[in-house]
Amino acid sequence: MDKKITIAIDGFSSTGKSTLAKQLAKHLGYIYVDTGAMYRAVTLYAMQHDFISDTQFDKKALIDKLPKISLQFLFNPDLGYAEIFLNEKNVETEIRTLEVSNFVSRIAEISEVRAKLVEQQQNMGKNKGIVMDGRDIGTVVFTDAELKLFMTASPETRAQRRYEELIQKGQDVTYEEVLKNVQERDYIDTHREDSPLVKADDAIEIDNSHLSIQEQFDKVLGLVNTVAKTL
Ligand code: DC
Repeated sequence: MDKKITIAIDGFSSTGKSTLAKQLAKHLGYIYVDTGAMYRAVTLYAMQHDFISDTQFDKKALIDKLPKISLQFLFNPDLGYAEIFLNEKNVETEIRTLEVSNFVSRIAEISEVRAKLVEQQQNMGKNKGIVMDGRDIGTVVFTDAELKLFMTASPETRAQRRYEELIQKGQDVTYEEVLKNVQERDYIDTHREDSPLVKADDAIEIDNSHLSIQEQFDKVLGLVNTVAKTL
């Protein structure tokens, strides 16, 4: 398959978007970009500067500092994918805590934040050969992507997956806390004014509640091959 395409993967949190995206990127020799990591890194910055906490949120201060926030992805050959750097520091682990997850939807609602990150995402995909996952990739970032996927699974299935992931990383959380976070993020992500999570008209929906990782990968690779034949 010579001609490179753009693959946009959107969907609810913890639907396994990044697992699929990483598999596809590796198999196809494409770049993989996790846009959730970018929103998480901006959230971490806001937490580190006390712009956001349980008791207050200084949105204006964060917007003023946006030009000072630099995000970069650097490929880690040991992991086989790129890790995110916030102002030159690897924050791949720090951005995955439940605390960041609890604040990130509020940061992702800010139009100025979205505009900055979308521009960077579009630049990264200029030459195609990219798999990008997020919430607005098929609807805003790459409206002309050759393949758009929309991933779903029940909130309980997703909470269980995320819970196991966090426990494995040694984090002290309960299943109920994770389920609550998943449900809250679903609500905010689908109800925000700027770029809410919606399925693009031309996206293919994949409900993976009952699909294994391998079954899902095989199914999507079939779709990639079908698209590539039409080019
Ligand atoms: O994919 P994730 O769970 O790591 O994403 C974290 C949050 O970032 C999610 O709650 C919504 C937001 N997000 C977004 O608004 N737009 C994107 N393209 C990616 C993520």
